[in-house]
Amino acid sequence: MRKNDEEAVTPQPTVVLRGVQVFQGWLDRADQLAMLAQIRDVVQVAPLVQPVTPSGRKMSVQMTSAGKLGWITDRGGYRYETTHPNGTTWPEIPSTVRAVWDAVSGSSRGPDSCLINLYREAAKMGLHQDRNEADFSYPVVSISLGDDGLFRIGNMTRGGTTEKIWLKSGDVVVMGGDARLIFHGIDKTRLGSSTLLSGGGRLNLTMRVVT
Ligand code: SIN
Ligand code: MN
Repeated sequence: MRKNDEEAVTPQPTVVLRGVQVFQGWLDRADQLAMLAQIRDVVQVAPLVQPVTPSGRKMSVQMTSAGKLGWITDRGGYRYETTHPNGTTWPEIPSTVRAVWDAVSGSSRGPDSCLINLYREAAKMGLHQDRNEADFSYPVVSISLGDDGLFRIGNMTRGGTTEKIWLKSGDVVVMGGDARLIFHGIDKTRLGSSTLLSGGGRLNLTMRVVT
C-alpha cells in the first residue's frame, strides 16, 4: 500500500524476504526530490566524508549523518558520536525522512540517527549486521534514492545462502523483529539507472534508535 492511501491500517510491504520488508515505490518522484533538497541542506552543514574502517581500510561509500547521534567509523572503531568529525553538531533528521519512519516503523519512539550513505561509481557495502545500537527491539528503516542498488540479504549469523533484490529510488526497507540483526549489504549499483541525483549515484538513508 502506498503512503497516500488514507486508511488507518498498518501499511503492507510489497515484498518480504527473510523477514525484511520492502515497500517498493513508497516515495514518488516529487517526494524524492523534496527529500533530496532536504538532504542537500544536511550535507551543507555536515559534509560527506569517506571514512575508514577500524582496520584502516577506506570505505567506498561517502558518509554523513543527521539526528542526535551519527554513526561513524575510523581507527577508533565503529560507534555513534554527537558531532560530525569536523566538530559540528549533526543537523536534525529532515521532516520528509522522519515521516517515512512514522509511517512504516510501527515504533512509538522516533529515530536517534539517520545515516546518509552516498554510493558513487563502484561503491558497495559488504555484508554486515547493524548492531551498534542498545536495543534491537526497534527496527531499522532505510530509504533508497537515485541509482538502483543490489541489496543482498543473508542470515542471522555470517555465512550461508543469500538472496538479493534490486532497490530502486523511492523504495523503503524495514529490518525489524526477527530480521533486525540479519546480515545485509549492497553488492553494486546500476550506474545511470536514475536521473535523480545530479552527480549520479545512489543515496541510502538509514534511521535507527540508538540508545
Ligand atoms: C547499510 O546497510 O548501511 C546500507 C544499506 C543500503 O545502502 O541500502
Ligand atoms: Mn546496515
